Amino acid sequence: MNFDKTESVSLSTSDINPDPEFFPKHVAIIMDGNGRWAKKRLLNRIKGHKKGTEVVRSIVKTCREIKIPILTLYAFSTENWKRPKTEVTALMTLLKSFLLTEQEEMMDNNIRLNAIGQIERLPDEVQDVLRSTIELTKSNKGLLLNLALSYGGRDEIVRAVRQIAEKVKNGIIDPDASKNQITEDLISDHLYTRAMPDPDLLIRTSGEMRISNFLLWQIAYSEIFITDTLWPDFDRKEFISILKNYQQRDRRFGKV
Ligand code: FPP
Repeated sequence: MNFDKTESVSLSTSDINPDPEFFPKHVAIIMDGNGRWAKKRLLNRIKGHKKGTEVVRSIVKTCREIKIPILTLYAFSTENWKRPKTEVTALMTLLKSFLLTEQEEMMDNNIRLNAIGQIERLPDEVQDVLRSTIELTKSNKGLLLNLALSYGGRDEIVRAVRQIAEKVKNGIIDPDASKNQITEDLISDHLYTRAMPDPDLLIRTSGEMRISNFLLWQIAYSEIFITDTLWPDFDRKEFISILKNYQQRDRRFGKV
């Protein structure tokens, strides 16, 4: 679904309706288009990722101000490991410096960091700073910033199935349908996002009409917005206009 950027919008966060019925509890973003942004400017792709990191800072700040409870950002997919080594290394370096420079900001602004994905595949020094930032911010009660790192939706489901199968093998869960122990809730509880509400809103930048293995189970009823804007050009104004547009949507969850 394409979002019309030309719609006249206010810049003010105060235009967002605070009524919990219309307020997204969880926003997820596929940040796409860093490479194309750089290419258009005859720059190295890494420059696009650098500019993209600045946009991350700005959108995190906006979520915090609007009091969105959870923001999940697709920062690195399981497929992204296949990119050239120099680009993977640059992304890991950017992530590490982002975490180091934002630690103070997170503490000052009550932000709790969490990571979803195959964290054990990240370079040791990234894992170290990631784990220490998660630990440092674990008691913060404001925005939950959830970074998807070496994340793949199918991989997440495979992992959940393995854990459930193990519990069945050990007699902890009865798979018999009449016992109703293997339920949708049980599966949700074995995903990285357990204890989080599913995203109400999924935004993808750069115009591609695909999900790219992101939160496959969790986005069953998410409202989807795809904007042609490349991630490094995405800004607070467009984010707010998408939130306003979301609040006008009629969410029926399959009902009439
Ligand atoms: C997609 O653009 C973007 C990524 C694969 C990485 C996203 C990373 C950042 C925004 C910066 C680091 C993140 C954090 C949280 C500090 P692309 O390279 O696929 O763009 P293209 O499709 O135009 O080539």
